[in-house]
Amino acid sequence: MPSVFIKTYGCQMNERDSEAVAAQLVAKGYTLAAHESVADVVLLNTCSVRDLAEQKAIWKMENVAGIARKEGRQPILGFMGCMAQSRGKQLVEALPDVDLVLGTQKFHRAAEYLDELLAGRQTQIVDTADEDGSQATIREHLLTGAADKKSVTAFVSIMQGCNQHCTFCIVPFTRGEERSRTIPDIVAECRELVARGVREVTLLGQIVTSYGKRDYPLREGKSAFVQLIEAVHEIDGLERIRFTSPHPKGYGDDLIEAFGRLPKLVESAHLPLQSGSDRLLKLMHRGYTRERFAEIIGKLRRVRPGIGLSTDIIVGFPGETEADFEETLALCRQLEFDLAYVFKYSPRKDTPAAAMPDQLPEAVIEERHQRLMTLTNELAARKYDALIGSTVEILVEGPSRKNPARYEGRTRSNKIVVFPGSERHQGQLLNLRIERTGSFTLYGDPAVIGMDEEVSAGPALLSA
Ligand code: 5AD
Repeated sequence: MPSVFIKTYGCQMNERDSEAVAAQLVAKGYTLAAHESVADVVLLNTCSVRDLAEQKAIWKMENVAGIARKEGRQPILGFMGCMAQSRGKQLVEALPDVDLVLGTQKFHRAAEYLDELLAGRQTQIVDTADEDGSQATIREHLLTGAADKKSVTAFVSIMQGCNQHCTFCIVPFTRGEERSRTIPDIVAECRELVARGVREVTLLGQIVTSYGKRDYPLREGKSAFVQLIEAVHEIDGLERIRFTSPHPKGYGDDLIEAFGRLPKLVESAHLPLQSGSDRLLKLMHRGYTRERFAEIIGKLRRVRPGIGLSTDIIVGFPGETEADFEETLALCRQLEFDLAYVFKYSPRKDTPAAAMPDQLPEAVIEERHQRLMTLTNELAARKYDALIGSTVEILVEGPSRKNPARYEGRTRSNKIVVFPGSERHQGQLLNLRIERTGSFTLYGDPAVIGMDEEVSAGPALLSA
């Protein structure tokens, strides 16, 4: 049977889509290749959110195709996902070695199209059409056993698309209109995952806080998204629920109240700020002011003290003045995020912001990017340092990515903790004392706390 190598660019939604494609192909008898150079099929699952992400995938494809040609191999080459959707057949025109272009509503057709290509019945397939019901097709998982952290945590895709139309953002064009799966379908998937050993799920979508708006009316003042969280919360054996990515406007009182009421909903929230200037927030079409944003954070901290808060910020949006930028700096100082992803504005095809006047010079964007990163990293380091000496609960995910001789898990507030564990800790909830910090990492001491005792009453899933 053929082997496939999938490389993923971009967000967690892309990772999840790649996993679903891999699971689909494995179910058809494909093997997963360890490297692109030995695969019969190489698929790049692409990201369009900034130009650099697109360029990286194109360079990679040129490189893979060039090496294969030199070595006399002819693997099937495919682009999937957001850039496949936005560029479509331009990709095969520019890169004739590419055999397959699979849009964001077509992941479930990967096996069928690869069959055609491998059998030589077709030589090139480009499919970026819309497909009704595609939101319910990202369902299969690859949970591959004890040494794989995926058996402890899993991503669950709950919806696709976004109707917010922020003026900088390409997502409405690459992912289409908001379409949600049903609550019973999502709950059934989560239940199966828990039965297979998963203890934490992350509910995924481009704008999860708008989940199910058209399908489920408010019930006792609760949005469809809160109704979904409540239904997932019922699952016995599930310990933790996360979600991403939300929109700040979705943190209504019903969701904030849910944080106070539902213990499995961990104290961690992502709130993409984008800018601290009301003038820019309006130009960006974000739908909130800096004051409203700060108010949401205040409410979240009141219901869940210690909640971990992360954000996304864009610097260099068209027309951003030094005064606008300083408002962003000031708001970051005030709000003290645990983690901020700072992005340089990148003009995207078909977006209103790309046509706005006063596009800023690269040097200005670069300088603001540096200044904001310096500030937010310093503020984050203080948050991490403040945890030294405290005891935190972690869910052990597997060997540490930074140091494979150690193990790692995540706190409820979404911070990575590295500690000297072993395979028998995988999947356990442990209390650890934080001894020191590194760059966005906490180091826990196993000697201090009874490491063999799980925090919860649940059985150790994978004890050796
Ligand atoms: N340029 C730079 N950053 C962007 N993002 C989205 N679109 C752009 C763009 N055109 C950032 C936003 C978003 C994150 C996923 O990517 O901050 O929250």
